[in-house]
Amino acid sequence: MNSPTQLLIGGKFQDARSGKTFKTINPATEEVLAEVAEADTPDVDLAVTAARRAFTDKAWGRMAARDRAKLLWKVGDLIMKNADELARLETLDNGKPIFESRYVDIPAAAETFYYYAGWCTKIEGETIPVPGEFFNYTLREPYGVCGIITPWNFPLLMVAWKLAPALACGNTAVVKVAEETPLTGLWLGQLCQEAGLPDGVVNVVPGFGETAGRALVAQPDVDKISFTGSTAVGKEIMRTAADTLKKVSLELGGKSPNIVFADADLDAAVKGAFNGIFYGKGEVCAAGSRLFVESKVHDAFMDKLLERSKRLEPGDPLNPKTRLGALVSKTQMERVLGYLEAGVREGANPVLAGGRAGDRGYFVKPAIFDQVDAGMKIAQEEIFGPVLSTLTFEDTEQLVEAANSTIYGLAAAVWTRDVGKAHRLARRLQAGTVWINAYNMLSEQSPFGGYKQSGYGRELGRHGIDLYTQVKSVWVSLD
Ligand code: NAI
Ligand code: MG
Repeated sequence: MNSPTQLLIGGKFQDARSGKTFKTINPATEEVLAEVAEADTPDVDLAVTAARRAFTDKAWGRMAARDRAKLLWKVGDLIMKNADELARLETLDNGKPIFESRYVDIPAAAETFYYYAGWCTKIEGETIPVPGEFFNYTLREPYGVCGIITPWNFPLLMVAWKLAPALACGNTAVVKVAEETPLTGLWLGQLCQEAGLPDGVVNVVPGFGETAGRALVAQPDVDKISFTGSTAVGKEIMRTAADTLKKVSLELGGKSPNIVFADADLDAAVKGAFNGIFYGKGEVCAAGSRLFVESKVHDAFMDKLLERSKRLEPGDPLNPKTRLGALVSKTQMERVLGYLEAGVREGANPVLAGGRAGDRGYFVKPAIFDQVDAGMKIAQEEIFGPVLSTLTFEDTEQLVEAANSTIYGLAAAVWTRDVGKAHRLARRLQAGTVWINAYNMLSEQSPFGGYKQSGYGRELGRHGIDLYTQVKSVWVSLD
């Protein structure tokens, strides 16, 4: 295995001050994949000090934007140069099919670096025609030290989504990767060193949320926290960050409605419903976990969806033909199995039962519930697994109300051939992303983030630049 397993602080890989390590598990075999250095408060403090020093040092602080751009581009190149190995490691650590890591996660991480490399030279201020004999202009400046806390579902990609724009804007970073999947993030730290980023610009501190994560959020010398993960932890981060009034951006959970009208291309919609929930094992914040089907096509639609879903078997994540891997951890598997029981208990109809596959590895078969009521647990809570809840509707008003009736608002999709109806719905759905006759489309060029309790701020695209800069107004007397 090529991946580093120690903390990256100030350009050097090193053990934790405590000497402690933790195990990261291959969820497909339940075997220990690696022992990784476990950061805690003293390590986070050192990493923040290194990041602060790198921020104030002229090697980074006064680097020409075009040189920063070249470094970011080089990180993208190094990700692609190591794509096969990185994909393999992502699959071993997370359990996702190699097909997904090799053709989605890893290239998308590289593209994010390429995209933000282009932004370095285009971050500009404005001149403002204020009254009187004054010249007023704005500077768009980096915050300083960014604390980045990432989840386990897209381990490398989520670091890239935050780190690339943070660096493009001239910040430095301390990255707390998820304890379930620390390896590719550490490797990215090494690639940043190889690309020639000055020591301390990127620091990586794997460890647990309660310790290393919390320490990073509380650290007074961190200027900004960027987090992706559960809504519960997002709220806690806001509370902790309030003490030092850190800037915070959050990308949290979802319970996204995937809405199929009777006039849709049903075969395309079936494919969209299937991929919407089963892609990434359903461990996807934007998963289409609430399927709304117009009553008059319900039976025909469900027949097709079931036909397709029955054939989806979990399998060895390293097999290129596998489309459903292992859930990330035992905890996550147990959570998901708990929701299967809750669905049955509450009276939904399990037309595809799901359940654990085999007794080694955290494999869970696809599950589809029919006749779900909007108030049920499985229609309200984020399950984060291959479990679909199906609801029906007859009337558009009632549909919109039901679709918007969760605390979340990350994404939504509408399937119809009626263009006007599609765009009307796009306006009325409370979601940061709406897909029309598509699902799970994402690009580093287009903003992503949540309405309501799905988040705070928009990542990617030009909006990503706003998240990592602050504006200064400069007044010059012309008298
Ligand atoms: P989590 O929110 O606890 O973990 C995400 C990251 O936050 C990890 O790096 C973790 O170490 C860190 N963290 C945890 N507690 C922290 C704290 N007090 N301060 C600072 N950092 C902290 O998510 P978890 O427990 O792994 O998954 C639970 C549920 O959360 C999932 O079943 C899913 O519903 C949701 N989730 C949503 C994600 C998304 O993409 N929006 C990603 C991961 C989980
Ligand atoms: Mg947790």
